[in-house]
Amino acid sequence: MPLRICFVASEVTPLAKTGGLADVAGALVKSLHALGHDVRLFMPLYRQVNRRALRLWPVEFLRDVTLRLGNHTLRYSVQTCQLPGSGAMIYLIDAPALFERDALYGNAPDEHLRFLLLTHAALQCCQRMGFAPQVFHCNDWHTGLGPLLLRTMYRWDKLFEHTRSLLSIHNIAYQGPFDARVLPETGLAELTSLLDAGELARGRVNPLREGIRHADHISTVSPTYAREIQTPQYGYGLDGDLRARGDAITGILNGVDYAEWDPRHDRFLPKRYNASRLSVKAELKREFMQRNGLGGAASRERIPLLGMVSRLAAQKGFDLLIDALPLLLQEHEFHCAMLGSGEARYERFFTQLARRYPARVAFRQGYSEEQAHWIEAASDLFLMPSLYEPCGLNQMYSLRYGTIPIVRRTGGLADSVQHFDPVSREGTGVVFNDYDAGGVRWGVGTAIQWYRNKALWRQLMKNAMAQDFSWEHQVEEYVALYERLVEGAGESDR
Ligand code: ADP
Ligand code: GLC
Repeated sequence: MPLRICFVASEVTPLAKTGGLADVAGALVKSLHALGHDVRLFMPLYRQVNRRALRLWPVEFLRDVTLRLGNHTLRYSVQTCQLPGSGAMIYLIDAPALFERDALYGNAPDEHLRFLLLTHAALQCCQRMGFAPQVFHCNDWHTGLGPLLLRTMYRWDKLFEHTRSLLSIHNIAYQGPFDARVLPETGLAELTSLLDAGELARGRVNPLREGIRHADHISTVSPTYAREIQTPQYGYGLDGDLRARGDAITGILNGVDYAEWDPRHDRFLPKRYNASRLSVKAELKREFMQRNGLGGAASRERIPLLGMVSRLAAQKGFDLLIDALPLLLQEHEFHCAMLGSGEARYERFFTQLARRYPARVAFRQGYSEEQAHWIEAASDLFLMPSLYEPCGLNQMYSLRYGTIPIVRRTGGLADSVQHFDPVSREGTGVVFNDYDAGGVRWGVGTAIQWYRNKALWRQLMKNAMAQDFSWEHQVEEYVALYERLVEGAGESDR
């Protein structure tokens, strides 16, 4: 039976992206639509969305809609288009005062209002379209208040009588707390008795915590992370609420959109390759290194290239690299290509390292789809020493490109990379346990040692490239979860 799903996310590939949430939202919706489900996707119309390329058109009956939030009156219109590469409909919430800013996210005092508007707008649009979703699928803190709104302000509407809410946590560290003094301006004042008392006592409202407390079900993006976030070490203060909902939490590993991320047809590469045409990968490596001034002609073949593509945030393990990378560069022969932007201290670290080792370290500061694909294709190794990693996508992309991931055993990294055993020759990468410089040094050192043994390395690459994390499989888990929810199972003792 086709399901009706209202899917709300703050970013969606290829319209607007800062990280993996966008990739997941785009690919999951595409896969659900391909299976015949009626999924409607709601997101903000940011300035960064390329309106011309998408050929947006206005939804006539969703023009100048009014939303009253306490003493605020907000207005928005809705523009629509098909998700590129799919027939699924996207509805973009057009509210220039809130969404036309320099970046998708910011620290402005009305940050909470921007996403509260998105959440309300999704529900209001369902009403005006006469669309009765069976599942209201919210993602991360931005739409964390969705389940509470559905249970309260929208419950009167028969349209939502059978709607069940699902909150997907892509990253528990971002919770979107805002000052409780602005409650009257949010329209949530009348719901105060339902908000978490502990947060209110501290003068705050925490949208992600409210999502966890009020959603019919909670999912997160890997089975290991689903367990981890129920512990104080990984729960960022929300582990208690999660333990209380323990029977209503499911971990589903993200999938990969292989239409985008596969060296057999990567549109950013001048030449394509697969497991039986690895000489092309070597050519791409040479071309990439030459262009980036890395190594000399002789060393490009012999010495491994270590790639990284990442937001420069503490989550990704960069504090370890500040200690470990300079030592590793002294201990081993390898080159390093890094693409990323984010926190200034990490940008400084990589800039200085590249200055110190111009022929060994290339740092490209910024965001570039094209460079990300090139690094995946050209590198031999891919490093993700994350402090925590809800799922992580680049390690899965790397596997398909025959670029061996070196990862810390946490979250989705633990669920998608299997430590290689040189004796049985099974496994797909290097997995280290300890979050310390010694762990990274061991991981990189082990990979470099294996790299020197050509036959062993070829086997490892072959194992990696044979992995399949396609959304065609992963979407089935979401559908099964939706069905369980719709049938009323999976309900907890809220
Ligand atoms: P997160 O969402 O925590 O940043 P993920 O591994 O889930 O981590 O997803 C990151 C996504 O963002 C990947 O598709 C990755 O290629 C992309 N990405 C991250 N930084 C950059 C960058 N500087 N340029 C291009 N793509 C990037
Ligand atoms: C978050 C996580 C990342 C995950 C992505 C998509 O940004 O940090 O691990 O892959 O969401 O779910």
